[in-house]
Amino acid sequence: MRVVILGAAAGGGSPQWNCRCPVCALAWAGDPRVRPRTQSSLAISANGSDWVLLNASPDLRTQILATSALHPRVTDSRRHSPITDVILTNGDIDHVAGLLTLRERQPLTIHAGPRALDILRDNAVFNVLAPDMVARRPLPVDVPVTMAGGLAVTAFPVPGKVPLYMEDTTTAWTAAETAADDGRVLGFLFQAGGRRAVCIPNCAAVTDAVRERVCGADLLLFDGTTFTDDEMPALGLSPKTAARMGHMAMDGPLGSMAALDGIDVPLKVYMHINNTNPVLVDGSPQQRLVEAAGWAIAHDGMEIRL
Ligand code: MLT
Ligand code: MN
Ligand code: ZN
Repeated sequence: MRVVILGAAAGGGSPQWNCRCPVCALAWAGDPRVRPRTQSSLAISANGSDWVLLNASPDLRTQILATSALHPRVTDSRRHSPITDVILTNGDIDHVAGLLTLRERQPLTIHAGPRALDILRDNAVFNVLAPDMVARRPLPVDVPVTMAGGLAVTAFPVPGKVPLYMEDTTTAWTAAETAADDGRVLGFLFQAGGRRAVCIPNCAAVTDAVRERVCGADLLLFDGTTFTDDEMPALGLSPKTAARMGHMAMDGPLGSMAALDGIDVPLKVYMHINNTNPVLVDGSPQQRLVEAAGWAIAHDGMEIRL
């Protein structure tokens, strides 16, 4: 199985177009310690020729250009793509906007939970993905679906919230609304050749159920949105904590490092990393701390072979 990180950053990318937080300021200054990262997506393949995308980021075209395995190959037809399927964790902009990049009449299948499929159905712009070319399939929970190249994909619910643009801003938010695990946000187990990769780019809490899903995997890719829960409020950028955004911080007693400490997974990688997160600065104390806890920080183009 091959896993290629197409985009390691969260929504906005790193640096974000309108941001001068301490990390973005370093990036704008060209500091080599902050590598630019595009928005959250990865490509996965069981056979090296058929590829499944996990999420379609607004940066997808750039990501395809940067990834030779995703370039069209010489075939009998003048049109080709190694991308056969696109799986969605949810309806967030950073995960669906790139579908519009795939509109040039290429046969594809989009797989998503019912909530994300409703979003595609209710937003007419996605009709540009012609139904005679692009199928939309509801993903069952806990049932392995075999995709091109023999990749087995199993979806499971993880705690999370509705997309930002669907939030009801007229009522106060409760913890239950930011961490419901009713299938609005999915995690995935990928299996091929006896190897297991678990990918959870959005996660509001590591519950016992999430721990069980992760345990025994060969690779975990996990939500690394912020380092501290109050990162955005402390920088004066937003009143929202990571928890309020439906994500987990890495650090702290309720953070993902503590929650996944000692888990039986040989390779743990953070992705969906927000541009404010100081782990994006190579050599920073926060990056050292995360690495000492056994985690790697994803970067664009990172490839993991299992
Ligand atoms: C998120 O991960 O919370 C969303 O991508 C935020 C957004 O829509 O910008
Ligand atoms: Mn996001
Ligand atoms: Zn920033």
